[in-house]
Amino acid sequence: MRVLSGVQPSGTLHIGNYFGAIRQFIELQHEHECFYFLADLHALTTVHRGEDLTGFTRDLAAGFLALGLDPEKAVLYRQSDIPEIPELMWILSTVTSMGLLQRCHSFKDKVAQGIVPNHGLFAYPVLMAADILIVDANLVPVGKDQKQHLEVTRDIVASFHATYGAEAFTLPEPLILDDVAVVPGLDGRKMSKSYGNTIDLFGPEKAVRKRIMSIVTDSTPVEAPKPKEGSALYELLKLFAPASDREWVEKAFDEGGVGYGEMKKRLFGYFIEQFGPARSRFNELRADRGEVERILSAGAARVREVIAPLMDHVRRIVGITH
Ligand code: ADP
Ligand code: TRP
Repeated sequence: MRVLSGVQPSGTLHIGNYFGAIRQFIELQHEHECFYFLADLHALTTVHRGEDLTGFTRDLAAGFLALGLDPEKAVLYRQSDIPEIPELMWILSTVTSMGLLQRCHSFKDKVAQGIVPNHGLFAYPVLMAADILIVDANLVPVGKDQKQHLEVTRDIVASFHATYGAEAFTLPEPLILDDVAVVPGLDGRKMSKSYGNTIDLFGPEKAVRKRIMSIVTDSTPVEAPKPKEGSALYELLKLFAPASDREWVEKAFDEGGVGYGEMKKRLFGYFIEQFGPARSRFNELRADRGEVERILSAGAARVREVIAPLMDHVRRIVGITH
């Protein structure tokens, strides 16, 4: 199987991104031919400060590598290094109906939130279709929220084939990551950078500790049993506690006698235990930009080699031959 997915460099990586997406991406590298990219052209639809986009993109690359993406096994690249992607996007946009894009939930949601939509936000799913189709991907691991975009991709394939009476693309299947836990944020809502309730994977230790200590809890006294239902602290402890401490977590809630402050300190300890090595590696990669750039350049070269025959074929079908 050829697997492809992308992550937008639109902020810093948090533990929700890891447990909900990146962990699964990295696992797939052992069984399939994987292509993962930093969707910086997509992030441009919302990030409008150049230095932010550059920094987020570099840190996302370092994050993928620090968390275990092996560039010998999976191809890691930056979307903007592949000029054929926006070229294919344009070609696809000429067979994509306005109605198809107007029906997209993520676009409608943004408009409903009061965001003044730009053309890039409207055309976002067509760029996504180009990302996927250009590498001939069969399988696209994504969160539930992206399922509709995969359907749009499939519709665009059908429309291209019908318009030109010629086959060019593989129909991709989504691999919906819906059995993964939704990681709660500090305030109990879904962890998301747009809610400001995240725990950053690679933030400075002091800042992470402060964030963990600020997880919202109720006023149950130390001696009393604590409610688990709706407790972000309980969910996070379950996610992080090593097998040997799971019983301790259950008892601390069921029997009481352990204060929330102590539980949060434990959680911080588990976090450092689990992510300590990745955090050190991230800092090394951050200090040595050359290495990350070398990996991204090699990734881009590999992708451009892989996509060349398909792009030739598509150009010939549409009549762009020189
Ligand atoms: P954010 O909500 O912080 O903007 P993104 O939308 O950039 O995060 O998410 C990138 C990936 O991480 C997506 O695949 C998404 O499903 C996953 N993800 C984000 N937040 C969570 C969460 N709290 N729990 C599980 N998965 C998450
Ligand atoms: N839209 C995806 C997200 O926000 C990121 C993305 C861009 C992507 N292009 C893609 C995911 C192609 C899968 C395939 O999570």
